Amino acid sequence: MSIQAIAFDAYGTLFDVYSIGELAERLFPGQGPALAALWRDKQIEYSRLRTMCATYKPFWEVTQDALVFSCKKLGLDLTLDAQNALMGQYAKLKAFPENLGVLQALQQMGLKLAILSNGNPQMLDSAAEAAGMRDVFHHILSVDAVKKFKPAPEAYQLAPDVFGLSPRSILFVSSNGWDVCGATWFGYTTFWVNRAAAPLEELGVAPDATGPDMNALLQFVQQRNGAAK
Ligand code: LAC
Repeated sequence: MSIQAIAFDAYGTLFDVYSIGELAERLFPGQGPALAALWRDKQIEYSRLRTMCATYKPFWEVTQDALVFSCKKLGLDLTLDAQNALMGQYAKLKAFPENLGVLQALQQMGLKLAILSNGNPQMLDSAAEAAGMRDVFHHILSVDAVKKFKPAPEAYQLAPDVFGLSPRSILFVSSNGWDVCGATWFGYTTFWVNRAAAPLEELGVAPDATGPDMNALLQFVQQRNGAAK
C-alpha cells in the first residue's frame, strides 16, 4: 500500500532537544546530562500517569512539573530565572539540519504532512514557526484536542480523522522507540528515526522501517511509493 500522508512526532523527531541539555549544563555544571535525561523521563512518565488517571493537563505544564521534580531529586537549586530559561528553550528549539529539506521533498511528492504531538498547540506553533516549518504542514495536531497523551489510541486517531485516511496508509514517524511501538500497535505504517542508535523496545512489536535520520525516511517513502505504482 502506498503512503498518502505522513504524521510526525515533534520533540526529538522534528525539533532537536539537545540544546536543552547544553543549557542545563551551563546552569548546573556537571549535572546537565543527568538533569536533561531525568527531566525527559519524568515528562513522559507524568504524561502517562495523567492519561491513565484521567487527570490531563497541557504538556507545557507537565514539562514544567517534571523540571521542578527533577531538580529536587538531583538536589539542584532551580531559581525562577533558571526555570524560565530552561522552559523557554522548548519554545525555540532548532530543527535537525536535514529536516526542512526532507519535508519539502515529501510535500513535492504530493504527500500531506502533519505534526501529531503531545505538545499543546501554542508550544507546537511556536516551535514550527521558529524552525521555518509552518508552511509545510497541512495540520498541526495536538493531543490537547482529546486530553490524552500518546500512546493513547484516541491521540493517534487524530491523524486518520483529519486526513480521512486509514492508519495503514498514513506513515507515522517518531524518534521515540515507545512512540513508534504505540503507533504500530494502533495500526499506522511506521518509521523509526533512530538517531540515538537505541535498541528496539522489548514490546513484541517493531516499526515497519528504521533509519538514522530523516534522509533515510525520504528514501523509504520514495521506494515504498515507487514500488506501489
Ligand atoms: C511529542 C513528544 C512525546 O512530540 O516527543 O509528542
